[in-house]
Amino acid sequence: MLISISNGWKIYNKGPQEVTALREIDLKIKKGEYIAITGPSGSGKSTLLHILGCLDIPKKGEYRFDEKRVDGLSEREIAGIRNKRIGFVFQFFNLLPRINILQNVGVPLFYAGEKKDKREKWAYEALKKVDMEHRALHSPNELSGGEKQRAAIARAIVNDPDIILADEPTGNLDTKTGLNILNLFGYLNEEGRTVIIVSHDLRIAKRAKRVISLQDGMIEKQ
Ligand SMILES: Nc1ncnc2c1ncn2[C@@H]1O[C@H](COP(=O)(O)OP(=O)(O)O)[C@@H](O)[C@H]1O
Ligand SMILES: [Mg+2]
Repeated sequence: MLISISNGWKIYNKGPQEVTALREIDLKIKKGEYIAITGPSGSGKSTLLHILGCLDIPKKGEYRFDEKRVDGLSEREIAGIRNKRIGFVFQFFNLLPRINILQNVGVPLFYAGEKKDKREKWAYEALKKVDMEHRALHSPNELSGGEKQRAAIARAIVNDPDIILADEPTGNLDTKTGLNILNLFGYLNEEGRTVIIVSHDLRIAKRAKRVISLQDGMIEKQ
């Protein structure tokens, strides 16, 4: 099993009020799956994605990545998983405005400690995969929404991760552009990568091979 969560809970307790964002989550994910996570706003989708991506650790229960308990790993080991195994894509692209697209795509390689030559070479290869190499030297604000998301996907795959996590990746795009981006995720899954997409978009749920629907922090039984 690639990922397994059993009886996972997430409780936010900043400030006076506790918010139980996830409860009793049982989930097993195999390598190569294509999963859509759906549910109303506030149902815990982003929280679950953050846990899956080791950006956060569940409060209770057990989370295993490659059979290893994540709460038993050091910060350094967890950072290693995030950096080498997982690529993230966000609704608002999260590109850095002051550096060009090639440099943006190379950011995860920078954190992995790679040298400039290698960063540029790999970033260029990743841009080619999403048909964006002609935009390498542009700044993010010169790109359309769809182009920004392509660049963000290039950044997510630059380390050749086996898992792609995306939080509402088409939420800020028009229908046609959103469809292009969806095709790209389909292609990444066909390459053998595990793809997990959070979305309200029914088209995503239709293409995914499995749909997980959340309601008030719980997985709805199928
Ligand atoms: N950092 C936080 N602090 C406190 N509450 C939070 C925080 N992040 C999310 N929540 C709450 O947790 C619940 C689930 O949020 P979220 O996972 O963002 O849902 P979704 O992505 O489905 O809209 C919501 O009630 C939200 O208000
Ligand atoms: Mg969300």
